[in-house]
Amino acid sequence: MFKNFFRKFSKDVGLDLGSSFTRVYVRDKGIVVDEPSVVALNSKTDQIIAVGHHARDMVGKTPGHITTSRPLLRGIISDYEVAEKMIKYFIDKIHEDGVNLVARPRVVIGAPLEITEVERKAIEDATYSAGASEVHVIEALMAAAFGVRLPVEEAVGTMIMSVGAGITEIAVISLGGVVTWRSLPIAGDEMDHNIVQYCREAFNLLVGEHQAEEVKKKLGSAEPFASGEQMAVRGRDLLTGLPKEVMITDSHVREALHRSVKSIIDAVKATLEVTPPELVADIHERGIVMVGGGTQLRGLDSAIAKACEIPVRVADDPTTAVVRGTGLLLEHPEVLREVELPSARIQEKVG
Ligand SMILES: Nc1ncnc2c1ncn2[C@@H]1O[C@H](COP(=O)(O)OP(=O)(O)OP(=O)(O)O)[C@@H](O)[C@H]1O
Ligand SMILES: [Mg+2]
Repeated sequence: MFKNFFRKFSKDVGLDLGSSFTRVYVRDKGIVVDEPSVVALNSKTDQIIAVGHHARDMVGKTPGHITTSRPLLRGIISDYEVAEKMIKYFIDKIHEDGVNLVARPRVVIGAPLEITEVERKAIEDATYSAGASEVHVIEALMAAAFGVRLPVEEAVGTMIMSVGAGITEIAVISLGGVVTWRSLPIAGDEMDHNIVQYCREAFNLLVGEHQAEEVKKKLGSAEPFASGEQMAVRGRDLLTGLPKEVMITDSHVREALHRSVKSIIDAVKATLEVTPPELVADIHERGIVMVGGGTQLRGLDSAIAKACEIPVRVADDPTTAVVRGTGLLLEHPEVLREVELPSARIQEKVG
């Protein structure tokens, strides 16, 4: 009887701390949090006013004493205190939402490929102080590969790439390890900046980043498509200082995004160039799998496929691949032990 009683309480949590979204997976429950990685703070009292969707709605609209911040920059903690508060808030929220979570869960958390020991330790420390009893860090892209059920443990080359908000990461995986990889700070956020910049230069129009993101999602593309589309963007005329509306077309947006798209394609090529030939042959046959929200940019898959002459497909539900992978690894501790990164805390104690 007691065994069943305890079994009802989930001990395990998977965490994807993305630059734009935080996602939390609880064993036996699935994804229980999928919210913006944004915190609104009262700068006078240092207290949290809102986290997640509510905080994001405040961005760009706050009075002087409220600041909104994104504590993660390219998957790395840029503001430790706020990050810790945010993780704690989300874990507490799971408890409040009535999910039977033990007081101090085990946490598997994804981290970027390019991370220093100090940065990894910051992620571990913040997660421990947010209430974890055990923290296991794994490369986010490796987690994503598990999440979309690629044969990562086999002796075949698998190429997976993620275009998120803060970073694009590309890796070739074989036998449960990353063989070659590249990462670049050009992804969804940079594309939004490209659109803001384009509006400024082409139309003398100052637009906000939220609106730029809307334009990207609605009209953005990496390649021309049959039916031309357009939409109205509103902002401030830089010459008159007054509100102004301009029609922007898909070809404007494509031009705005061109450089970012090219950088991503070049990084895929550069990764292939340093990959051992046997693995390149596997990738050529099996194709590239893409995850992350940025891969939903229209035509990005076919633009990469053409440039690299390799089939490319966007995984189903690409934004949750990492967190689903952490969830899967929670259920396979023997695999987790093999792929997790050594704790930066232990190394510090030993060294
Ligand atoms: N249809 C779309 N077209 C283009 N970009 C999109 C689309 N839908 C979402 N995005 C972009 O995807 C990005 C968010 O992706 P995701 O949630 O994977 O990022 P993240 O995990 O928070 O960031 P990172 O992995 O870089 O730390 C945002 O920049 C968003 O604008
Ligand atoms: Mg991500």
